Amino acid sequence: MKQILTALSLLLALSHLMASKTSEEADVSEQLSGSELLNSVNEARKLVDEAYKVSRDKVKAGLNKTHVTPSDFLKHLKEPVAGTRHAMRAGSYMEASLDLLKKKLQKKWPRPFNITEVLNTKQKETIALATGCDYPIRPIECPENSPYRTITGQCNNRKNPHFGMSNHGYARWLPAEYEDGMSLPRGLIPGQLYHGHSLPLVRLVSNNIIATANENVTDDEGRSLAFMHWGQWVDHDLDHAPMTATTIDNKEAHCDTSCNYAPPCFPIKIPHGDPRISSGLCMPFIRSAPVCNPTTLIREQLNAITSFIDASMVYGSEEPLAKNLRNLSNPLGLMALNQNFTDAGLGLLPFENKTRSLCLYTNKTANIPCFQAGDKRVTENLGLSAIHTLFVREHNRLATELRNLNPHWDGERLYQEARKIVGAQTQIITYRDYLPLTLGNEINHQLPLYRGYNESVDPTVSNVFSLAFRFGHGSVPPLVPRLDENFQPLKPYSYAPLHLTFCASWRIVMEGGIDPLLRGFLTDDSKLMRQNQMMVKELQDRLFEQVEIMGLDLAALNLQRGRDHGLPGYNAWRRFCGLSAPSDEAELAAVMGNSELAKKFMDLYGTPENIDIWIGSMAEPFVPNGRVGPLLACLLGTQFRKIRDGDRFWWENPGVFTPQQRRALSRISFPRIICDNTRIKEVPRDVFKKNQYPRDFVKCREISGLDLSAWKE
Ligand code: HEM
Repeated sequence: MKQILTALSLLLALSHLMASKTSEEADVSEQLSGSELLNSVNEARKLVDEAYKVSRDKVKAGLNKTHVTPSDFLKHLKEPVAGTRHAMRAGSYMEASLDLLKKKLQKKWPRPFNITEVLNTKQKETIALATGCDYPIRPIECPENSPYRTITGQCNNRKNPHFGMSNHGYARWLPAEYEDGMSLPRGLIPGQLYHGHSLPLVRLVSNNIIATANENVTDDEGRSLAFMHWGQWVDHDLDHAPMTATTIDNKEAHCDTSCNYAPPCFPIKIPHGDPRISSGLCMPFIRSAPVCNPTTLIREQLNAITSFIDASMVYGSEEPLAKNLRNLSNPLGLMALNQNFTDAGLGLLPFENKTRSLCLYTNKTANIPCFQAGDKRVTENLGLSAIHTLFVREHNRLATELRNLNPHWDGERLYQEARKIVGAQTQIITYRDYLPLTLGNEINHQLPLYRGYNESVDPTVSNVFSLAFRFGHGSVPPLVPRLDENFQPLKPYSYAPLHLTFCASWRIVMEGGIDPLLRGFLTDDSKLMRQNQMMVKELQDRLFEQVEIMGLDLAALNLQRGRDHGLPGYNAWRRFCGLSAPSDEAELAAVMGNSELAKKFMDLYGTPENIDIWIGSMAEPFVPNGRVGPLLACLLGTQFRKIRDGDRFWWENPGVFTPQQRRALSRISFPRIICDNTRIKEVPRDVFKKNQYPRDFVKCREISGLDLSAWKE
């Protein structure tokens, strides 16, 4: 009885405290008149516009730079397209308005407070409206039912037309964890404790746990290089967080040279004893752009592309870009191809339309700009550009065959039908061939049989997925193979160090096209992600090292990105997935199946709670027959299930394709797509498994192609 009374009085005291806090907060918000609020927003808009102008002028001034830095390459890959810029600017208006309001209120009320908590609902609505940040919740009238997806993903879900749309925020499966509860990344203030421990410098984690000498890798005896590349290909269909260009307090944003936290710069500090870089220096890091979050106002990140598997990396996630990528000079429904070069007669991707394309710097005499595609990252590595090229050719092949079958179809119909098929092919290869080899024995548990479209499922890609799916960085080998017709190293190019291939579009144009790269996909292996061989130096030390300046560290970027995005630590996600949450070194050793690794983690983090999600999840031992551990199996499985079940245009959803078309589609395969669009004549059937030439190869004609007769009208 005594205990109950004590508990009751505690509760009463607590509720009193909370009530008084609420009324104090209400007092603060009452100090803001409506016009004061709007004035702050207007002031913020002006400052943001100014900052954007400064940043734009800086870009223009830099167009004729004689040298570029590795971080210029990263910025280029994360550069927003038009609609994204618009969304980013609204997000910046919102962020700056809150900043100004906080500063104003702080003068009247000098105690620490959280701006999102003191504003009342009406005030939040006013700010959202005045900044243009109401767009994620603005009602949308979906047009008449169309048989085709929209380019932006809008109205896929007719009840919630924003679900899965491009240029909206990532979904949050667990609340964001920021240092100030609102937007500051954890680990920012040195010595700040979380679960009783401070966070280690990300570069230290990268050096002590992740770095692997290029010579010290183990080939994956069960997975081809195509397996790794398909992972990245699918990822680029699902998520892309662009960078903030500028902020009102740091208009010029010298993130390359400054070691201070000055948003948008959140520099990666170099620890003592770093094997390559002097301590006291920094590696540049720019925060992901904030997106409007009219409901809680807490910082969220922007996903520039659609969440659906809809081949948006081929077609784009915004209308103007999608239009730009098409060949509208005739009514054949084709995608545009390169006007200056071909790949021995076969199409190449068009070049981006820029005065000074960054790819020019990777070979100053070749004069070859970056490629243009539905996704900005197309030229990031050669294998990726090869798949992009392959699918643009596949689109054109399909559109041409469909026209032969249906000469009465106009260009729009041909484009949309071919696009619909390419989207379905991407879904099929991912779910039928790629995911079972990724999730192994967990596949059926994580992805039970398809039961039809479920309107209540939100397919929006989650923030944590955009980190979790980076597990593929552990399977990138250090060399890029290019093979000749006999699947032997192509002389004189053969194996190029990865760091010399980033953004090197010239190598596709001038060193043999895409066939040698695709042959490499088929006979070479992925790197095996091992607990003591996580990421090769080519990525961990030499990312974008195309110029004389020291490269970036992809592992450190991933870790810092997780903190930038406010993602909770390892144990929070283990609990989310219903898995055990190790509390000490012994328990962590049991989960990792590795006491040496557990010790390294504990030495750095002090507690498993704080381990950054990307590395914690990637480090777990694989589930049987898979290439991820239990936590990743859950996070990836949950996301891929939502993307499938919440997609009205899922290829198996009755009514999307006719039963005959579905039957024809179920026989498509990645190797056959290679056969149909290159000069490669022999391929393996199981393209993602390890294959040996000629033992595991068959002639192209032995592999069934897509029978388009079901499309004849
Ligand atoms: C040569 C191979 C690859 C390179 C050079 C590369 C490089 C990069 C870079 C530079 C970033 C941005 C890092 C940041 O600033 O936060 C990134 C993000 C990412 N990568 Fe990779 N990557 C490669 C392969 C892969 C693979 C194989 C996968 C998956 C299986 C993958 C999945 C992702 C994901 C999910 C993101 C986050 C995208 C976003 O939401 O913005 N990558 N990668």
